[in-house]
Parts: sequence; structure tokens; C-alpha cells
Amino acid sequence: MTALTLVRPDDWHLHLRDGAHLRAVLPDTARRFARAIVMPNLKPPVTSVGLAARYRASILDALPPGMRFEPLMTLYLTEATTPADIAEAMESGIVAAVKYYPAGATTHSAAGVTDIARCHGVLAAMEEAGLPLLVHGEVTDPAVDVFDREKVFLERVLLPVVRRFPRLRVVVEHITTREAVDFVEAASENVAATLTAHHLLLNRNALFQGGLQPHHYCLPLLKREIHRGALLRAATGGSPKFFLGTDSAPHTRATKETACGCAGIYTAHAAIELYAEAFEQAGALERLEAFASFHGADFYRLPRNEDRITLEKTHWNVPSQLAFGDEVLIPFRAGERVAWRLAEQPAPTGAEA
Ligand code: DOR
Ligand code: ZN
Repeated sequence: MTALTLVRPDDWHLHLRDGAHLRAVLPDTARRFARAIVMPNLKPPVTSVGLAARYRASILDALPPGMRFEPLMTLYLTEATTPADIAEAMESGIVAAVKYYPAGATTHSAAGVTDIARCHGVLAAMEEAGLPLLVHGEVTDPAVDVFDREKVFLERVLLPVVRRFPRLRVVVEHITTREAVDFVEAASENVAATLTAHHLLLNRNALFQGGLQPHHYCLPLLKREIHRGALLRAATGGSPKFFLGTDSAPHTRATKETACGCAGIYTAHAAIELYAEAFEQAGALERLEAFASFHGADFYRLPRNEDRITLEKTHWNVPSQLAFGDEVLIPFRAGERVAWRLAEQPAPTGAEA
């Protein structure tokens, strides 16, 4: 196959940051995706509808003229979130979901939840309202091996939640293990998962290939090859429970290439192209469109997009670094090749030139 046209995809898990960083990264996503679920782990976190509305306005303001993009906002769950916040979120029409970070699990998660039992009232309100809970599924217990934190979270924390709230709509974000695939497949139709391009393309060897590789450090960590295989089978298997979520997470070069570097991999510059590589590797390119453009929209009960994008089977070289406000970031595959290229798009009809 030399070209692939698909309904324009959406990114169901994205970090856009704010200020100059937002302006730098947003066009990469808007060129490829119609909509994205925007994660709320800013400093300070997006914990209220008012903050989400302000953040949404700043995203739209950062969009270059002529580009279309719809940010789908999320609220950051804390132990102070109330059922009234959920009612307000539903009324606002701009909040698509609530994000649950276990406190201390990842970047800017300190304000997250230490004990999910403290949020049962909010979960009940979300179950009633049909508002999805997006889960960073890792325990923070230092006694648990970092490579086992997702598996233990599913058993210890999420299984009791889905049993207690069977109608709660849950997305297990950026799953990384065979156990997570099994968990999602065995759960009801209310439970789904996102998969990143980097977890489909890399196993944990990539963290140490020829030396320590900070640009392959993300959370949850890359896992063994058997897990990558299970993720690839889930993504390409056609089940509507699995959909695209890049978890593209830009950090400055300086905060990655340092002692105690930040977790996060930037993939927005080549996102759908990288998924095409993974699907091609699995011999399942014909399944990419449903995974990237249909399953997520269906789960979120949003209309599917109508316009299309085209990918060409042509190699291109990723720049060795990208501008990131006054700083730079190192993108995934920096200085290396990507096998698919996004074809130039005609300007959307009705948009300014
Ligand atoms: O690698 C990650 N980076 N994982 C997360 O959960 C958060 C993200 C970020 O915001 O940088
Ligand atoms: Zn994330």
C-alpha cells in the first residue's frame, strides 16, 4: 500500500501544557486530529469548570488562523471534588471526562487522589451522569516494583471500583501490559482503554539501548516484548474497547536530559504516522481507521468526524529538536526516519486563508 486515506482521527489522550509551550505544540496535533481529550495536569491543575473554560479558551486562542481543532476538556479529580462539580461539568457542555491521577503517580499528580474511597460520592454522580472517568492506572506504593504498578492497580484499586459502580464509564489510559488488555476485555462495555504509539512500537529495551535514553522515559514505563505484543493485538484486533490516545507529553530538553528527568514522550509531530507504522507491522493497516477515528468517538458518544486525511508511504526525517517556547524539546525519533507521511491538506472549506 502506498497511500492510506482515513476519516480524520481524534486523540483521546493529550498533554498540551500552557503558555508558549501550548502555542508550540498545538499545531502538530491540530494538523492531524479533529479533537483531543486534553489532560488537566497543569500547574495548578484544572480542577474546576471555570479553570477548564479558561484553559479551553487559551487553547482556541493558540490555534493558528485557518486551523480547526476542538479541545475536549477534562477535570482533575481531587479529594475535594464534589457531586455538585460533576453537575456543573455536565451543564457546561465543555467537560468530556474527569481524570483520576493517584497522588504521586506521575507529572503534576501531587494534588491527585490518595484513596479513591474518598471520591465514592463523586463516582456515583459520574455514573449517574454518564461522565467518563479516565484513569492513570498505577499504584504508587513504593513496595511494588515499578514494572508491576499497572497490574497491581487493576487488581487492588480499579476492580473494586468497577464492581461498585458497574455503570461508571471508565477509560484505562495508556495501557502497557497484557494484564491490562485482559482486564479491559473481561470488563463490561463501559470499560475501554487508550493505547499510545510509543507503547505499540517500543519495549523496555529502548530505555537502555546503547546507554540511558531519557527520551524513552514515560509513565507507565515501557514493558517487556510480550506486553507490547499483547497491546498490538488489542489495538489491531478490531474491538471497539481500544482506541488511540497518544499521551504526547512534551518536556523541555533540559528537564529530560538531567539527573531525575521528567517522564513523557513527545509524539504529536508524527502521531498518526507512528500508529500507521505499528499497524503495518501487524499487517493490519485496514484496521487503523476504526481504532483512530471511530472507536473513541463512539465510546464518548460524539459524532464521528466527516473529513479525511491521507497518509503516504514515504520516509521523512524527524528534526533533531523542535522549538518549544524559548526552549527546545526532543521529539520521538529525533534525527531518524518515520515510514509514513501526512499528505498536505487543502484548507478546510469556509476557513480563512
Ligand atoms: O509519561 C508521562 N508523562 N506520563 C504521564 O502520565 C504524564 C505525562 C506528562 O504529563 O508529562
Ligand atoms: Zn498522560
